[in-house]
Amino acid sequence: MTEQEYTTVQKDEMAAKQVWFITGAGRGMGTDIAKAALAAGHAVVATGRSPEKVVQAVGESENLLAVKLDVTDASAAEAAVQAAVERFGRIDVLVNNAGNFYAGFFEEITPEDFRAQIETTMFGPMNVTRAALPVMRAQRSGLVVTISSTAGIVGGEFLSAYAASKFGVEGWAESLAPEVAPFGIRTMIVEPGFFRTELLTPESTRYAEPTIYDYAERTRQTVAAWQSMDGQQGGDPAKLADALIKLAELDEPPLRFAAGADAVGVFATRAKALQGQADAHRGLSSSLAHDDA
Ligand SMILES: NC(=O)c1ccc[n+]([C@@H]2O[C@H](COP(=O)([O-])OP(=O)(O)OC[C@H]3O[C@@H](n4cnc5c(N)ncnc54)[C@H](OP(=O)(O)O)[C@@H]3O)[C@@H](O)[C@H]2O)c1
Repeated sequence: MTEQEYTTVQKDEMAAKQVWFITGAGRGMGTDIAKAALAAGHAVVATGRSPEKVVQAVGESENLLAVKLDVTDASAAEAAVQAAVERFGRIDVLVNNAGNFYAGFFEEITPEDFRAQIETTMFGPMNVTRAALPVMRAQRSGLVVTISSTAGIVGGEFLSAYAASKFGVEGWAESLAPEVAPFGIRTMIVEPGFFRTELLTPESTRYAEPTIYDYAERTRQTVAAWQSMDGQQGGDPAKLADALIKLAELDEPPLRFAAGADAVGVFATRAKALQGQADAHRGLSSSLAHDDA
């Protein structure tokens, strides 16, 4: 091997090995993403509210650093990013994955629970990204992946808190994209359909207490329907994790990725619905300018 070939191989190897920083890695999708990144030869900073649980779930590796991080705690996010940089020197891929599900009819979700949803799945990604961006800017490279949901593009009954947080996080991530693109930083929003994780277990889902008689029967039916879906979801989180590894290798990762055939269907339905809504009152919509404009 000539010196030039040797240098090229070394450069390729360096380019191929990334440092991943993942939130909520102690169970569910986060564990699968951490495992897939390690299997691909990357270094992984796997974070969670319990670092012991993270190591147990992901498995020991010299390429793994487990760090305590509750995403609702901005100073803990800064400390976790610092620990990542001290150990691996950089952060190439941040995966905002941690999440939970506050389900229920809007009138029955307490304001405290509604806020708790937003704290975790909207402000959580912002806390961690705010901590990681200075590192990525200094590198002039990086990818911020935010696991949203199809509930980030379509709302629905029982989903007001969850969808509000996911719509919010999408608006934020989409707006962030052009702000940081000049520094070589990309953003990718991932909208999973139904994946078989622990999201619908009592550890992650909190149903609103039934308090209003008018909703009682629909609450009973809707809770039963959601509970019956637990363990039956079609999506395989290990396959999604592998897909994310591939997408992170692209020079131009997509701004949005529909994760799962069901998600592709939701995208199509949403696009059609928006077009229909724009067309439905096109004349009235288009008649709102000042007369002299
Ligand atoms: N599974 C699906 O069908 C689906 C569909 C669309 C979107 N998603 C999204 O995918 C992401 C991952 O969810 P999942 O399906 O893997 O659910 P999961 O199996 O319930 O895992 C949720 C993970 O988030 C962590 N977490 C929750 N609150 C946290 C906090 N404040 N700080 C740090 N970690 C926290 C949990 O850690 P603890 O063990 O400490 O609780 C756990 O590791 C979420 O953003 C979710 O909204 C999932």
